[in-house]
Amino acid sequence: MDFNFDIIWGYFPLFLRGTLYTIGFSIASIILGSILGLGIGFGRMLKSPLWRWPFDAYVNIFRGTPLYVQILIVHFGVVPFFYGSTNALISGVVALSLNSAAYAGEIFRAGIQSVDSGQREAALSLGMTRGQSMRFVVLPQAIKRMVPAFGNEFIVLVKDSSLLALVAAPEIMYWGNTMKGQYMRIWEPYLTAAVIYFILTYSLNKLLGYIERRM
Ligand code: ARG
Repeated sequence: MDFNFDIIWGYFPLFLRGTLYTIGFSIASIILGSILGLGIGFGRMLKSPLWRWPFDAYVNIFRGTPLYVQILIVHFGVVPFFYGSTNALISGVVALSLNSAAYAGEIFRAGIQSVDSGQREAALSLGMTRGQSMRFVVLPQAIKRMVPAFGNEFIVLVKDSSLLALVAAPEIMYWGNTMKGQYMRIWEPYLTAAVIYFILTYSLNKLLGYIERRM
C-alpha cells in the first residue's frame, strides 16, 4: 500500500473549507434545533393528549426514520417546494435542524422532568407563580443537567453532517468523495476525512469535559 501524501496536500485547502462548512452546519443546526426542540419539549409535557399528540408524532417520526432519508426528502421535496429550487446549504441546515429538534426536545423534557417535583411544589408554596417556579427554581437546575446531553448532541451533529455529502453540500465528506473520484484512491481521501472528524470530536469532547467540570 503506497500512501500518496501529495494528493492530500493538493486537496488540503478544500478539506479546510469543508471543515468550516461542517462546523457551520453543526453550529447552525444545534442552535435552530434547540430553539425548535424547546417548543417540542414543552409540547410533549402538555397534559391534554389532544394538544400533545402533534409533538409526540414529530419526535416519533424524526427519530423513527433515517436521517439519510430525511435529507433526501428535504433536499428534493421540501426546499424546492418553499424555495423554488434545490439548495444544498439550506437543505443541510433544515434537515439537520429538524432532526436534531426531535432529540433536543427529548433532552429538554427529560431535563425538566428530572427535577424533583418537590422543588416546584416548594416554590409554589412560597407564593411563586407557576411561571416563576419554572424560571427561577426548576430551569436553573434542569439546564445544568442538560449540558452534557447537548454536548453529545453537538458531537453527533458534527459526525452526522457527513451525510450531507449526499446532496453535495461542500462539507468534509463531500471533498473526500470528490478526491476519491478524481484519483480513484480509497485510503487517502477517507482516512483524511476520518482524521479531521476525529480531531473535531476529540477537541469538542475535551472542551465539554472542561465546561462540565467548571459547572
Ligand atoms: N444516525 C441517525 C440516523 O441515521 C441520526 C441520529 C441523529 N441523532 C441525533 N442525536 N441527532 O437516523
